[in-house]
Amino acid sequence: MPESKVLDIIKERFSVRQYKDQPIEDEKLNLILEAARLAPSASNSQPWHFYVVRDKNKIKALGEKMPIGSQVIINSFISQAPIVIVATAGPISILHKVVAFIVNKRWFYLDVAIALEHMVLTAWELGIGSCWIGWFDEKKIKKLIDIPQGEEVVALLTLGYSKEERLPFPKHRKSLEEIVNYR
Ligand SMILES: Cc1cc2nc3c(=O)[nH]c(=O)nc-3n(C[C@H](O)[C@H](O)[C@H](O)COP(=O)(O)O)c2cc1C
Repeated sequence: MPESKVLDIIKERFSVRQYKDQPIEDEKLNLILEAARLAPSASNSQPWHFYVVRDKNKIKALGEKMPIGSQVIINSFISQAPIVIVATAGPISILHKVVAFIVNKRWFYLDVAIALEHMVLTAWELGIGSCWIGWFDEKKIKKLIDIPQGEEVVALLTLGYSKEERLPFPKHRKSLEEIVNYR
């Protein structure tokens, strides 16, 4: 049976929503960012930018900049994370816009997502947990982080050492039979 180190990481990884009050070493952060830098992208356009937020006040504010519900429960854990990455797409080149129009696919979102998942998996291998954040108020975040015009926030990613050691419950996923067809 062939073995896959990447698959082992994929199997183990879970979204971390409780973080220790422990900073992430610069060397590890650089490896995580390097994993994003090396990600593939449509026409190798690399239409991404990553804002590394480490300032505690800004991170606290990020946790409060959710559309609704953050004060109650939704995504308030962001404020605990030692690092939050704000990932943007853009500015989008004319070539990219033309390609997106012709094939009717917004590849730049996918490109940023692939880079983010590279970060997630590399972080996990280095013992660092993360959580994708798709529930955010883009306008407020752009203002807080001072993101230039022409860039669109695709997602946020929290990073930090997990308080939980393993997945608190089994991964809930569809079976291969449900999602794969051979033709
Ligand atoms: C694009 C995207 C957006 C997400 N947004 C949020 C979010 O706003 N808040 C949150 O707690 N988790 C968020 N998640 C994490 C998912 O809830 C999680 O990946 C899913 O439930 C599977 O659990 P697992 O990551 O532990 O395997 C997001 C995941 C993705 C891929």
